Amino acid sequence: MKALEGVRILDFTHVQSGPTCTQLLAWFGADVIKVERPGVGDITRGQLRDIPDADSLYFTMLNHNKRSITLNTKNESGKKVLEELIRKCDVMVENFAPGALDRMGFTWERIQEINPAMIVASIKGFGPGPYQDCKVYENVAQCTGGAASTTGFRDGLPLVTGAQIGDSGTGLHLCLGIVTALYQRTRTGEGQKVSAAMQDGVLNLCRVKLRDQQRLEHGPLKEYSQFGEGVEFGDSVPRAGNDSGGGQPGRILKCKGWENDPNAYIYFITQAPVWEAICDVIGAPEWKTDPDYATPNARLPRLNQVFGRIEDWTQTRDKFEVMEILNARDIPCGPILSMKELAADASLRATGTIVEVDHPTRGSYLSVGNPIKLSGSPTEVTRSPLLGEHTDVILREVLQFDESMVKELQQSGALGDPAKLAAE
Ligand code: COA
Repeated sequence: MKALEGVRILDFTHVQSGPTCTQLLAWFGADVIKVERPGVGDITRGQLRDIPDADSLYFTMLNHNKRSITLNTKNESGKKVLEELIRKCDVMVENFAPGALDRMGFTWERIQEINPAMIVASIKGFGPGPYQDCKVYENVAQCTGGAASTTGFRDGLPLVTGAQIGDSGTGLHLCLGIVTALYQRTRTGEGQKVSAAMQDGVLNLCRVKLRDQQRLEHGPLKEYSQFGEGVEFGDSVPRAGNDSGGGQPGRILKCKGWENDPNAYIYFITQAPVWEAICDVIGAPEWKTDPDYATPNARLPRLNQVFGRIEDWTQTRDKFEVMEILNARDIPCGPILSMKELAADASLRATGTIVEVDHPTRGSYLSVGNPIKLSGSPTEVTRSPLLGEHTDVILREVLQFDESMVKELQQSGALGDPAKLAAE
């Protein structure tokens, strides 16, 4: 049995943030019914296409294990079908622009009237406040949630990160809210609203930077490289390059081959308990007793010298050799792995974190499987649905519509162009 078996999700999500959340629920065993606009569907089906006329990787990699029904929810008959779906489902997940669901006629009050046990989970860009009506995409959230102002180098522009902390990060937050609300419902029998704002999700992930903002009022942030470089701090947390934040100084250092390989680097942490081992590995045993280097506090103003010397050593080996040598001595480090290297990684494939999925129109492709492993509910990744692939089966089996009701619906235009449907 799967953990969420028997839970039915009305998946009214699109693009990345919402689909990330419902994909996780599907991987945990929920029946996820994705409602899509007839003819077009989720806009990502056609975005960044690599193969003509096939669903894009953008869509296929975010919509595994779901079923798709096409439904025009602005059409009167379509609204009736949506009402039936609300009756039959446990959770509605949506990430439309603010107000879109209300404009469609499905306010929280109306949904509660239809199904008081329904959990309605929403992602918006911002919570209540001056920006609550704004449409928001990933990088807007990274910028407004504190990630961009604290990412990059001090003398450069604020930077956005490749990790989709605004979209996928908020999808994860919402997913936890949903399973928590489902758990509470087992005791109260009542639904509730679950809201996750992208700005809040990003700020939550930037928690340590708000910590540093407050520390700054009591003196310089000594683990930031700029302290050792004698550069004064301003009144807000600066960008810290690749410094690590946990009081265990770290840097990205060159390894053998860096001149030609953009990823021939390793993240090296000068963790205090293994300082002596570091000194031995890099051939600087005198630093074990030198008062300028022997203690973490003594090293803080000298991080450039420390990492410069370590880099002299890392440059003599490739990143995997460095990793092997350091790991044997419990010195924390991490090679900079390219997407190409990750795609070929045998252990990630063995655990199902990287999976190969077959698709009828695009053939086989690689995807990221479920990163959360449940021993009692293993994930089997299946392909994303074609647009409207399950419309008929959902109408007949989930909603119990008979032949004449399905025909009537087809003619109403609620499922798409009636002429096209008749020709199929
Ligand atoms: N049938 C009929 N109409 C449908 C429909 C369906 N099955 N599905 C959606 N629609 C309509 C909506 O009701 C809306 O109509 P309205 O504007 O008349 O109210 C319209 O399609 C467009 O929806 P919207 O959400 O505004 O899409 P958009 O492409 O303009 O904006 C976002 C996209 C992502 C910016 C916006 O949805 C948003 O801000 N979402 C919340 C934050 C978020 O999740 N952002 C990250 C996305 S990865």
